[in-house]
Amino acid sequence: MRGIILAGGSGTRLRPITTVSSKQLLPVYDKPMVYYPLSVLMLAGIREILLISNPEHLDTYEQLLGDGSRLGLRIEYAAQDRPRGLADALRVGREFIGDEQIALILGDNIFYGHALAELLGRERDRLEGCTLFGYPVADPERYGVAVTDDDGRIVELEEKPAAPRSNLAVTGLYLYDNEAVEIATRLRPSARGELEITDLNKEFMAQGRARLVNLGRGSAWFDTGTHESLLDAAMFVQILEKRQGIRLACIEEVAYRMGFIDTERLNLLGKEMSASSGSGYGQYLMELTRT
Ligand code: G1P
Repeated sequence: MRGIILAGGSGTRLRPITTVSSKQLLPVYDKPMVYYPLSVLMLAGIREILLISNPEHLDTYEQLLGDGSRLGLRIEYAAQDRPRGLADALRVGREFIGDEQIALILGDNIFYGHALAELLGRERDRLEGCTLFGYPVADPERYGVAVTDDDGRIVELEEKPAAPRSNLAVTGLYLYDNEAVEIATRLRPSARGELEITDLNKEFMAQGRARLVNLGRGSAWFDTGTHESLLDAAMFVQILEKRQGIRLACIEEVAYRMGFIDTERLNLLGKEMSASSGSGYGQYLMELTRT
């Protein structure tokens, strides 16, 4: 399975903090936002990843993550020249995807759950068509909303409905069979001129091949589309990290625990980060090698 992180868009709702910076590079407490979706792909065991962003921001992402080899990954970069919609990521990534299955994740979505790795592994193994992940929210009208039958098959899917038929928001993590690439190529732009991910998912739904897995109330999902939700996410991360003495979405730690890198590499990454600056993040990495 190949992973795609879509970190495009103009972040207009977050201006002025996104006037010169890419939204998905903004800090969420102690690390750049993009670390969170990247760690989710890594927890799913995905090591080949394409990052898509606006042409003017690609260099910065590359400076941050490089070719991924330091984390035992292979990261490539591609430009989306203007916001053409989420489904456009599959067109941009066509060559990178090749004949493989796809995990697409939005660069501004933050997931947390103690059993996330197991859940993703299981869903990856049983993927047939498309699998979406739902999360109960108080304001479903802000999101894609799904209704399922008793087996978890999606029977209704609507983008930002005025009168939502359920409280299950469709989160920004999508698992697809390779066929999704071809469907994305056939899609027509919506009224707002974008290739809508919901239209793509509806195609799978029409074939009876779209499932929704409810992440449930024992997990957390944040999108960071507004100043308030960005701060909410940061505070959530800070509270958990402070209380438990751990770090969420620490990509170096995930690489280590997933067996992508060894103790020596982790120690080196920690050293590099804490040398001269005394970064607590770097210290944390070095301590991991001693436990
Ligand atoms: C997009 C999708 C929507 C999904 C949301 C998750 O909305 O269109 O279906 O629920 O991401 O973050 P957007 O954030 O582009 O409004």
